[in-house]
Amino acid sequence: MNWRALFKPSAKYSIIVLIIVGVILGVVGYFATQQTLHATSTDAFCMSCHSNHSLKDEVLASAHGGGNAGVTVQCQDCHLPHGPVDYLIKKIIVSKDLYGFIMIDDFNTQAWLDENRKEQADLALKYFKSNDSANCRHCHTRIYENQPEGMKKMAKKMHENNFKKAPEDRKTCVDCHKGVAHPYPKK
Ligand code: HEC
Ligand code: HEC
Ligand code: HEC
Ligand code: HEC
Repeated sequence: MNWRALFKPSAKYSIIVLIIVGVILGVVGYFATQQTLHATSTDAFCMSCHSNHSLKDEVLASAHGGGNAGVTVQCQDCHLPHGPVDYLIKKIIVSKDLYGFIMIDDFNTQAWLDENRKEQADLALKYFKSNDSANCRHCHTRIYENQPEGMKKMAKKMHENNFKKAPEDRKTCVDCHKGVAHPYPKK
Protein backbone atom coordinates (compact mmCIF):
# COMPACT_ATOMS: atom_id res chain seq x y z
CA MET A 1 0.00 0.00 0.00
CA ASN A 2 1.21 3.48 -0.83
CA TRP A 3 0.89 5.38 2.48
CA ARG A 4 1.64 8.70 0.90
CA ALA A 5 -1.65 8.49 -1.00
CA LEU A 6 -3.42 9.01 2.33
CA PHE A 7 -2.07 12.51 2.59
CA LYS A 8 -2.77 13.51 -0.97
CA PRO A 9 -6.12 14.85 -2.04
CA SER A 10 -8.31 11.90 -2.83
CA ALA A 11 -8.65 11.25 -6.52
CA LYS A 12 -12.09 9.73 -6.28
CA TYR A 13 -13.86 12.10 -3.84
CA SER A 14 -13.45 15.82 -3.58
CA ILE A 15 -12.12 17.25 -0.34
CA ILE A 16 -15.47 18.95 0.25
CA VAL A 17 -17.33 15.63 0.20
CA LEU A 18 -14.82 14.12 2.63
CA ILE A 19 -15.22 17.08 4.98
CA ILE A 20 -19.01 16.75 4.89
CA VAL A 21 -18.78 13.02 5.66
CA GLY A 22 -16.37 13.80 8.50
CA VAL A 23 -18.73 16.37 10.00
CA ILE A 24 -21.68 13.96 9.80
CA LEU A 25 -19.69 11.22 11.53
CA GLY A 26 -18.62 13.70 14.20
CA VAL A 27 -22.19 14.80 14.88
CA VAL A 28 -23.48 11.21 14.99
CA GLY A 29 -20.63 10.28 17.35
CA TYR A 30 -21.39 13.24 19.59
CA PHE A 31 -25.04 12.31 19.96
CA ALA A 32 -24.28 8.63 20.46
CA THR A 33 -21.99 9.57 23.36
CA GLN A 34 -24.63 11.89 24.79
CA GLN A 35 -27.20 9.09 24.61
CA THR A 36 -24.93 6.68 26.45
CA LEU A 37 -24.18 9.24 29.14
CA HIS A 38 -27.84 10.06 29.36
CA ALA A 39 -28.72 6.44 29.95
CA THR A 40 -26.28 6.46 32.84
CA SER A 41 -28.10 9.42 34.37
CA THR A 42 -31.49 8.05 35.26
CA ASP A 43 -32.61 7.49 38.84
CA ALA A 44 -32.46 3.77 38.09
CA PHE A 45 -28.77 4.04 37.26
CA CYS A 46 -28.01 5.94 40.46
CA MET A 47 -30.08 3.51 42.50
CA SER A 48 -28.28 0.52 41.01
CA CYS A 49 -25.43 1.17 43.45
CA HIS A 50 -27.46 2.99 46.10
CA SER A 51 -30.25 0.37 45.94
CA ASN A 52 -30.42 -0.27 49.69
CA HIS A 53 -30.27 3.41 50.58
CA SER A 54 -33.40 5.36 51.45
CA LEU A 55 -32.40 8.20 49.07
CA LYS A 56 -35.20 7.77 46.52
CA ASP A 57 -37.88 7.44 49.22
CA GLU A 58 -36.56 10.58 50.83
CA VAL A 59 -36.89 12.53 47.59
CA LEU A 60 -40.44 11.20 47.14
CA ALA A 61 -41.32 12.31 50.67
CA SER A 62 -39.91 15.81 50.10
CA ALA A 63 -41.33 18.81 48.25
CA HIS A 64 -39.13 17.69 45.34
CA GLY A 65 -41.03 14.45 44.85
CA GLY A 66 -44.24 14.72 46.74
CA GLY A 67 -45.56 18.17 45.84
CA ASN A 68 -49.04 18.80 44.54
CA ALA A 69 -47.69 19.59 41.08
CA GLY A 70 -46.81 15.95 40.38
CA VAL A 71 -43.15 16.71 39.72
CA THR A 72 -40.50 14.22 40.81
CA VAL A 73 -37.11 15.85 40.54
CA GLN A 74 -34.56 13.31 39.31
CA CYS A 75 -31.23 12.65 41.02
CA GLN A 76 -29.27 14.06 38.11
CA ASP A 77 -31.34 17.27 37.99
CA CYS A 78 -29.72 18.20 41.28
CA HIS A 79 -26.44 16.29 41.27
CA LEU A 80 -25.07 16.51 37.72
CA PRO A 81 -24.18 19.62 35.70
CA HIS A 82 -26.00 20.66 32.52
CA GLY A 83 -23.16 21.70 30.16
CA PRO A 84 -21.71 18.77 28.16
CA VAL A 85 -18.09 19.43 29.14
CA ASP A 86 -18.79 19.98 32.84
CA TYR A 87 -21.05 16.97 32.69
CA LEU A 88 -18.25 14.77 31.39
CA ILE A 89 -15.85 16.05 34.03
CA LYS A 90 -18.33 15.35 36.83
CA LYS A 91 -18.97 11.90 35.37
CA ILE A 92 -15.31 11.15 35.59
CA ILE A 93 -15.30 12.28 39.22
CA VAL A 94 -18.41 10.21 39.89
CA SER A 95 -16.53 7.24 38.49
CA LYS A 96 -14.52 7.31 41.72
CA ASP A 97 -17.76 5.91 43.09
CA LEU A 98 -17.07 2.73 41.17
CA TYR A 99 -13.86 2.34 43.13
CA GLY A 100 -15.67 3.13 46.37
CA PHE A 101 -18.44 0.69 45.53
CA ILE A 102 -15.91 -2.11 45.23
CA MET A 103 -13.66 -1.05 48.10
CA ILE A 104 -15.98 0.23 50.86
CA ASP A 105 -17.21 -2.55 53.13
CA ASP A 106 -21.00 -2.68 53.46
CA PHE A 107 -21.36 0.44 51.28
CA ASN A 108 -24.77 -0.52 49.95
CA THR A 109 -26.51 -0.86 53.31
CA GLN A 110 -28.72 1.63 55.11
CA ALA A 111 -26.47 1.26 58.17
CA TRP A 112 -23.50 2.56 56.16
CA LEU A 113 -25.50 5.55 54.93
CA ASP A 114 -26.79 6.37 58.42
CA GLU A 115 -23.29 6.13 59.80
CA ASN A 116 -21.67 8.25 57.09
CA ARG A 117 -24.52 10.59 56.26
CA LYS A 118 -22.91 13.77 57.56
CA GLU A 119 -19.63 13.23 55.72
CA GLN A 120 -21.41 12.28 52.47
CA ALA A 121 -23.80 15.22 52.76
CA ASP A 122 -20.92 17.64 53.15
CA LEU A 123 -19.16 16.11 50.14
CA ALA A 124 -22.34 16.59 48.14
CA LEU A 125 -22.69 20.18 49.38
CA LYS A 126 -19.19 20.99 48.15
CA TYR A 127 -20.40 20.54 44.59
CA PHE A 128 -23.33 22.95 45.07
CA LYS A 129 -21.07 25.51 46.69
CA SER A 130 -18.53 25.20 43.87
CA ASN A 131 -20.97 26.50 41.26
CA ASP A 132 -23.28 28.77 43.25
CA SER A 133 -25.98 26.08 43.34
CA ALA A 134 -26.33 26.17 39.54
CA ASN A 135 -28.58 23.08 39.52
CA CYS A 136 -31.03 24.70 41.92
CA ARG A 137 -31.04 27.95 39.95
CA HIS A 138 -31.66 26.01 36.73
CA CYS A 139 -35.24 25.37 37.93
CA HIS A 140 -35.71 28.14 40.49
CA THR A 141 -35.27 31.09 38.15
CA ARG A 142 -37.42 33.60 40.04
CA ILE A 143 -35.89 33.67 43.50
CA TYR A 144 -34.14 37.02 43.34
CA GLU A 145 -35.90 38.86 40.52
CA ASN A 146 -39.42 38.83 39.14
CA GLN A 147 -40.52 36.85 42.21
CA PRO A 148 -43.97 35.23 42.13
CA GLU A 149 -46.77 37.05 43.97
CA GLY A 150 -47.29 34.13 46.29
CA MET A 151 -43.74 33.83 47.58
CA LYS A 152 -43.83 34.04 51.39
CA LYS A 153 -43.07 37.53 52.74
CA MET A 154 -40.25 36.19 54.87
CA ALA A 155 -38.74 34.32 51.92
CA LYS A 156 -38.99 37.36 49.67
CA LYS A 157 -37.23 39.50 52.24
CA MET A 158 -34.42 37.00 52.86
CA HIS A 159 -33.88 36.57 49.13
CA GLU A 160 -33.91 40.29 48.41
CA ASN A 161 -31.48 41.09 51.21
CA ASN A 162 -29.12 38.41 49.96
CA PHE A 163 -29.29 39.69 46.39
CA LYS A 164 -28.53 43.27 47.47
CA LYS A 165 -25.10 42.21 48.70
CA ALA A 166 -22.00 42.27 46.52
CA PRO A 167 -21.84 38.98 44.54
CA GLU A 168 -18.86 37.67 46.55
CA ASP A 169 -20.70 38.27 49.84
CA ARG A 170 -23.92 36.54 48.79
CA LYS A 171 -24.92 33.22 50.23
CA THR A 172 -25.72 30.40 47.86
CA CYS A 173 -29.02 28.46 47.96
CA VAL A 174 -27.67 25.50 49.95
CA ASP A 175 -26.11 27.77 52.60
CA CYS A 176 -29.67 28.56 53.71
CA HIS A 177 -31.53 25.51 52.38
CA LYS A 178 -30.11 22.21 53.54
CA GLY A 179 -32.03 18.98 53.40
CA VAL A 180 -34.35 19.92 50.54
CA ALA A 181 -34.39 16.34 49.25
CA HIS A 182 -32.86 14.18 52.00
CA PRO A 183 -32.91 14.97 55.70
CA TYR A 184 -29.72 16.87 56.49
CA PRO A 185 -28.09 15.21 59.51
CA LYS A 186 -27.68 17.22 62.72
CA LYS A 187 -24.26 15.76 63.42
C1 HEC B 1 -20.85 2.50 40.75
C2 HEC B 1 -21.74 2.68 41.88
C3 HEC B 1 -22.41 4.04 42.03
C4 HEC B 1 -23.26 4.65 41.14
C5 HEC B 1 -23.73 4.12 39.79
C6 HEC B 1 -23.67 5.90 41.75
N1 HEC B 1 -23.08 6.04 42.98
FE1 HEC B 1 -23.21 7.66 44.22
N2 HEC B 1 -21.83 6.85 45.48
C7 HEC B 1 -21.26 5.60 45.33
C8 HEC B 1 -20.26 5.40 46.39
C9 HEC B 1 -19.40 4.15 46.60
C10 HEC B 1 -20.25 6.60 47.16
C11 HEC B 1 -19.34 6.92 48.35
C12 HEC B 1 -18.08 7.54 47.74
C13 HEC B 1 -16.98 7.85 48.71
O1 HEC B 1 -17.24 8.39 49.77
O2 HEC B 1 -15.85 7.56 48.33
C14 HEC B 1 -21.26 7.48 46.56
C15 HEC B 1 -21.55 8.76 47.02
C16 HEC B 1 -22.48 9.62 46.45
C17 HEC B 1 -22.77 10.97 46.91
C18 HEC B 1 -22.16 11.69 48.10
C19 HEC B 1 -20.69 12.00 47.94
C20 HEC B 1 -20.35 13.05 46.92
O3 HEC B 1 -19.19 13.05 46.47
O4 HEC B 1 -21.18 13.88 46.55
C21 HEC B 1 -23.73 11.48 46.07
C22 HEC B 1 -24.35 12.87 46.12
C23 HEC B 1 -24.03 10.46 45.09
N3 HEC B 1 -23.26 9.33 45.34
C24 HEC B 1 -24.98 10.61 44.11
C25 HEC B 1 -25.13 9.74 43.04
C26 HEC B 1 -25.96 10.01 41.87
C27 HEC B 1 -26.79 11.26 41.67
C28 HEC B 1 -25.84 8.95 41.03
C29 HEC B 1 -26.46 8.78 39.64
C30 HEC B 1 -26.07 9.79 38.65
C31 HEC B 1 -24.92 8.00 41.67
N4 HEC B 1 -24.53 8.52 42.88
C32 HEC B 1 -24.54 6.79 41.12
C33 HEC B 1 -21.54 4.67 44.34
C34 HEC B 1 -22.30 4.93 43.19
C1 HEC C 1 -35.93 20.01 38.38
C2 HEC C 1 -36.31 21.27 39.02
C3 HEC C 1 -35.81 21.57 40.43
C4 HEC C 1 -34.53 21.53 40.90
C5 HEC C 1 -33.27 21.06 40.18
C6 HEC C 1 -34.59 22.01 42.27
N1 HEC C 1 -35.88 22.31 42.61
FE1 HEC C 1 -36.51 23.08 44.40
N2 HEC C 1 -38.44 22.84 43.82
C7 HEC C 1 -38.85 22.44 42.57
C8 HEC C 1 -40.31 22.27 42.58
C9 HEC C 1 -41.16 21.85 41.38
C10 HEC C 1 -40.73 22.58 43.89
C11 HEC C 1 -42.16 22.53 44.45
C12 HEC C 1 -42.81 23.81 44.12
C13 HEC C 1 -44.16 23.86 44.74
O1 HEC C 1 -44.34 23.36 45.85
O2 HEC C 1 -45.02 24.45 44.11
C14 HEC C 1 -39.53 22.95 44.65
C15 HEC C 1 -39.54 23.38 45.97
C16 HEC C 1 -38.43 23.89 46.65
C17 HEC C 1 -38.45 24.52 47.97
C18 HEC C 1 -39.69 24.76 48.83
C19 HEC C 1 -40.11 23.52 49.52
C20 HEC C 1 -39.18 23.14 50.62
O3 HEC C 1 -38.59 22.04 50.56
O4 HEC C 1 -39.01 23.94 51.57
C21 HEC C 1 -37.16 24.88 48.27
C22 HEC C 1 -36.66 25.58 49.51
C23 HEC C 1 -36.33 24.45 47.14
N3 HEC C 1 -37.15 23.86 46.18
C24 HEC C 1 -34.97 24.61 47.06
C25 HEC C 1 -34.16 23.95 46.12
C26 HEC C 1 -32.71 23.84 46.22
C27 HEC C 1 -31.86 24.42 47.33
C28 HEC C 1 -32.29 23.13 45.11
C29 HEC C 1 -30.88 22.69 44.75
C30 HEC C 1 -30.22 21.82 45.75
C31 HEC C 1 -33.48 22.82 44.31
N4 HEC C 1 -34.58 23.32 44.98
C32 HEC C 1 -33.49 22.14 43.10
C33 HEC C 1 -38.04 22.23 41.46
C34 HEC C 1 -36.66 22.06 41.52
C1 HEC D 1 -29.96 34.08 53.04
C2 HEC D 1 -30.65 32.80 53.10
C3 HEC D 1 -31.34 32.32 51.83
C4 HEC D 1 -30.78 32.15 50.59
C5 HEC D 1 -29.37 32.45 50.13
C6 HEC D 1 -31.80 31.54 49.76
N1 HEC D 1 -32.95 31.38 50.50
FE1 HEC D 1 -34.67 30.56 49.86
N2 HEC D 1 -35.58 30.99 51.62
C7 HEC D 1 -34.94 31.51 52.74
C8 HEC D 1 -35.91 31.61 53.85
C9 HEC D 1 -35.59 32.10 55.25
C10 HEC D 1 -37.15 31.17 53.33
C11 HEC D 1 -38.49 31.11 54.09
C12 HEC D 1 -38.54 29.96 55.04
C13 HEC D 1 -38.92 28.73 54.34
O1 HEC D 1 -39.99 28.69 53.73
O2 HEC D 1 -38.14 27.75 54.40
C14 HEC D 1 -36.90 30.77 51.94
C15 HEC D 1 -37.87 30.23 51.11
C16 HEC D 1 -37.61 29.66 49.87
C17 HEC D 1 -38.57 28.97 49.05
C18 HEC D 1 -40.04 28.77 49.38
C19 HEC D 1 -40.80 30.02 49.02
C20 HEC D 1 -42.24 29.98 49.48
O3 HEC D 1 -42.92 31.02 49.35
O4 HEC D 1 -42.68 28.96 49.97
C21 HEC D 1 -37.91 28.54 47.93
C22 HEC D 1 -38.51 27.76 46.77
C23 HEC D 1 -36.54 28.97 48.04
N3 HEC D 1 -36.39 29.66 49.22
C24 HEC D 1 -35.55 28.68 47.12
C25 HEC D 1 -34.28 29.23 47.14
C26 HEC D 1 -33.29 29.06 46.08
C27 HEC D 1 -33.47 28.19 44.86
C28 HEC D 1 -32.20 29.79 46.44
C29 HEC D 1 -30.93 30.02 45.63
C30 HEC D 1 -31.15 30.68 44.33
C31 HEC D 1 -32.49 30.40 47.73
N4 HEC D 1 -33.76 30.05 48.10
C32 HEC D 1 -31.61 31.19 48.46
C33 HEC D 1 -33.62 31.86 52.82
C34 HEC D 1 -32.71 31.85 51.76
C1 HEC E 1 -33.82 18.68 44.91
C2 HEC E 1 -32.44 18.31 44.73
C3 HEC E 1 -31.99 16.88 45.00
C4 HEC E 1 -32.50 15.72 44.48
C5 HEC E 1 -33.70 15.54 43.57
C6 HEC E 1 -31.65 14.65 44.95
N1 HEC E 1 -30.68 15.16 45.78
FE1 HEC E 1 -29.22 14.11 46.73
N2 HEC E 1 -28.65 15.80 47.74
C7 HEC E 1 -29.10 17.07 47.49
C8 HEC E 1 -28.45 18.01 48.39
C9 HEC E 1 -28.67 19.51 48.44
C10 HEC E 1 -27.55 17.25 49.19
C11 HEC E 1 -26.60 17.78 50.28
C12 HEC E 1 -27.07 17.46 51.70
C13 HEC E 1 -28.38 18.09 52.08
O1 HEC E 1 -28.58 19.31 51.95
O2 HEC E 1 -29.27 17.33 52.52
C14 HEC E 1 -27.72 15.85 48.75
C15 HEC E 1 -27.05 14.76 49.30
C16 HEC E 1 -27.03 13.48 48.74
C17 HEC E 1 -26.20 12.38 49.21
C18 HEC E 1 -25.24 12.41 50.39
C19 HEC E 1 -25.91 11.81 51.65
C20 HEC E 1 -27.03 12.65 52.16
O3 HEC E 1 -28.12 12.09 52.42
O4 HEC E 1 -26.88 13.86 52.35
C21 HEC E 1 -26.44 11.32 48.39
C22 HEC E 1 -25.81 9.93 48.46
C23 HEC E 1 -27.44 11.74 47.41
N3 HEC E 1 -27.78 13.07 47.67
C24 HEC E 1 -27.96 10.94 46.41
C25 HEC E 1 -29.12 11.23 45.70
C26 HEC E 1 -29.85 10.28 44.86
C27 HEC E 1 -29.42 8.87 44.59
C28 HEC E 1 -30.95 10.94 44.38
C29 HEC E 1 -32.06 10.40 43.50
C30 HEC E 1 -32.84 9.30 44.09
C31 HEC E 1 -30.89 12.31 44.89
N4 HEC E 1 -29.78 12.43 45.68
C32 HEC E 1 -31.81 13.32 44.61
C33 HEC E 1 -30.06 17.42 46.55
C34 HEC E 1 -30.84 16.52 45.83
